[in-house]
Amino acid sequence: MSHTVTWDPRQYLQFSNERQRPALDLLAQVPLATPTRVVDLGCGPGNVTTILRQRFPAAEIVGVDSSPDMLAKARSAAPDCRFVQGDFATWRPEAPPDLIYSNAALHWVGAHETLFPRLFGLLAPGGVLAVQMPAMHDAPLRRLQLAVAAEGPWAPHLAGEVSAREILSTGAYYDLLRPLASRLDLWETTYLHVLQGEDAVMQWAAGSSLRPFLDRLEGQLQADFRAAYAAALRPHYPRRSDGATLLPFRRLFLVAIR
Ligand SMILES: C[S@@+](CC[C@H](N)C(=O)[O-])C[C@H]1O[C@@H](n2cnc3c(N)ncnc32)[C@H](O)[C@@H]1O
Repeated sequence: MSHTVTWDPRQYLQFSNERQRPALDLLAQVPLATPTRVVDLGCGPGNVTTILRQRFPAAEIVGVDSSPDMLAKARSAAPDCRFVQGDFATWRPEAPPDLIYSNAALHWVGAHETLFPRLFGLLAPGGVLAVQMPAMHDAPLRRLQLAVAAEGPWAPHLAGEVSAREILSTGAYYDLLRPLASRLDLWETTYLHVLQGEDAVMQWAAGSSLRPFLDRLEGQLQADFRAAYAAALRPHYPRRSDGATLLPFRRLFLVAIR
C-alpha cells in the first residue's frame, strides 16, 4: 500500500545541515556556468532551491513538488524562484531546462526504468540531469521501520505500508543513461552524519522515511509506534561519549549530460 505522504517541513529541516551536504556535493559536479532554465525537482521546503539561486543568479528557477505544505514553505524560503505543484511521473516543463536537479526526492517513486530516460529527454541540448538519492534499504534505519510496523497494536493499521522505494543498482542507472548521455558521472558516498539530541535517528526518519507510517497512526498509537521504533534503533545507533549519534548514510549520485 502507498498513499500521498504528508510532509512536515519543520521536522524535515531539523537536520538541514546534514541534508544539505549531499545537495552541495551534487551541485559541485554540475558543469554549467550560466544556465537559462533550472528545475529543482522535488524541491521540498526550498532550502536547496535557495542554493541553486545563489549559484545561478540569472537563471529562471522553478521548483516542482507534489506537497502543498512543502511548496508553501519553499515559496517563503525562495521568493525569487517560481514553484509549481506537479508529480514526477507526469510533470513536463514549459520549456526544455538546461538543468534538472533533484536532491533526495526521486526515490519516492518507482518505475525508474522509464522515469530517468523520460527526464533526460526533457532537457535542452547540452542540458544536465543531476540526481542524488539515498541508498539505505539494507540499513537498520529502514529495515526496522518494517519490522516494528509488523508487530504491535499498530500492525493492523500499517499492514502493507511501504516507504520510499529501493532504488535500482548503480549499474542499472549506467545502462539506462549511458546510451543517451554524452557524459555520465556516477558515484556513491557514505556520509557519517553526526546527529545531536535524543533518539536522533528516529527524529531524522520522522522527517522523511518514517512519514508514510506516521501518517496512518494517530494519538497514543502513533506515539507508541515512534517509541518502539526508537527503542529498536538504539542498539544499532548508540550515543557516543559526547552524546552525539552517528548515522552512516549511503547516497547515489549521478550527473548525465545530454
Ligand atoms: C526528502 S524531500 C527532499 C526535498 C529537497 N529536494 C531537499 O533536498 O531537501 C522529498 C520531496 O519529494 C517530494 N515528492 C515525493 N514524491 C513526489 C512525487 N511523486 N512528485 C513530486 N514530488 C514528490 C516530497 O513532497 C518532498 O518534498
